[in-house]
Amino acid sequence: MFDVRRVREDFPILKNGFIYLDSAASSLTPEQVLQAELDYYRNFRANIHRGLYKPSIQASEAFDDAREKLARFINASKDEIVFTKSTTEGINLVANALDWKQGDSVETTLFEHHSNLLPWLRLSKRGVKVNIREDYSSFSKSSKLIAVGHASNVLGSVAPVERIAREKGDSLLLVDAAQSAPHFSLDVKKLGCDFLVFSAHKMLGPTGIGVLYIKRDAQKTVNSPFLGGGTIRAVTAEDYELTHFPESWEAGTPNIAGAIGFGAAVDYLKKLGMGNVHAHSKKLAEKAAKELREINCVTVYGEKEFNGIVSFNVKSMPAHDVAAMLDESARICVRSGHHCAMPLMKKLGCNGTARASFYVYNTEEEVEKLASAVKDVVQLA
Ligand code: ALA
Repeated sequence: MFDVRRVREDFPILKNGFIYLDSAASSLTPEQVLQAELDYYRNFRANIHRGLYKPSIQASEAFDDAREKLARFINASKDEIVFTKSTTEGINLVANALDWKQGDSVETTLFEHHSNLLPWLRLSKRGVKVNIREDYSSFSKSSKLIAVGHASNVLGSVAPVERIAREKGDSLLLVDAAQSAPHFSLDVKKLGCDFLVFSAHKMLGPTGIGVLYIKRDAQKTVNSPFLGGGTIRAVTAEDYELTHFPESWEAGTPNIAGAIGFGAAVDYLKKLGMGNVHAHSKKLAEKAAKELREINCVTVYGEKEFNGIVSFNVKSMPAHDVAAMLDESARICVRSGHHCAMPLMKKLGCNGTARASFYVYNTEEEVEKLASAVKDVVQLA
């Protein structure tokens, strides 16, 4: 049984008294994740895969164990998981690692945040055709790559990834799961993607660590982006031989504590049950959308699948003013602005929105406080 009161006890930061509705930007972190990182720093702080002494062996095992947990979390194998800095880094790595030729094409959509747009737009300067679709129905079967966000960071809507995968023909498929991995039980085999990226910090884990999944069959299509310690089998003064994947992609000392913390975060989410996690944030977002829609002069964007995210505007008031007033009057933390999705803002016909996003520690009472605070803002608008 999902008990939000019990969950909140794991987040001591909530005792500070603010109402945190910005988990789509970055979630809060439970004590269990903090403890896992502290345990590493306090008890077996050493580098990994380089030392034959006990703390190093323990750190290596904890790091490898985290990779295994992340693999299981998305139904992949551990040799398909690269630790990255973030979703953004994962997408850029793929953009840089594929062997682009003049005339190749990449397809994405207007719903993307900039991280899943700019790396492709830059390729257009190298002769790659970049097609930005306004919906999910017309992808080519012969692009080099289709890159879609699984869930929108503005609308909360969910892309039909499984259908896109079935219809993609020879194209490779990259799924940006930054906003879906925190909420859904993901299965890369069912999704049918070749690449999938997500970040720990939006799903109760630490900042500065993410995952890039590369399907085994797709690994031959990409070159290791960085070379250095840990990536080789043998080196001479003239040449080198790379080691196997994923180590060949993880040059230098990785974010060891971050990986261990990420493993603890998915342990925590799995204990709650991803079905419960999704149902809880969806229920809160639906309630928020309904209550905000009932307020005169409030526009709510998005239609049906509120994946924990509700974007809105109050009359023609700048979204930053709305957010600042919510903070000032009710200690409510929401994000405002273009949400790193300027082309989507243009399509919605606004410069920005205020965005409330809900996660495992939020309550119905907090939704009611949001609605009440927005009513006060309307009076002043
Ligand atoms: N992409 C993150 C957001 O939507 C940072 O807030």
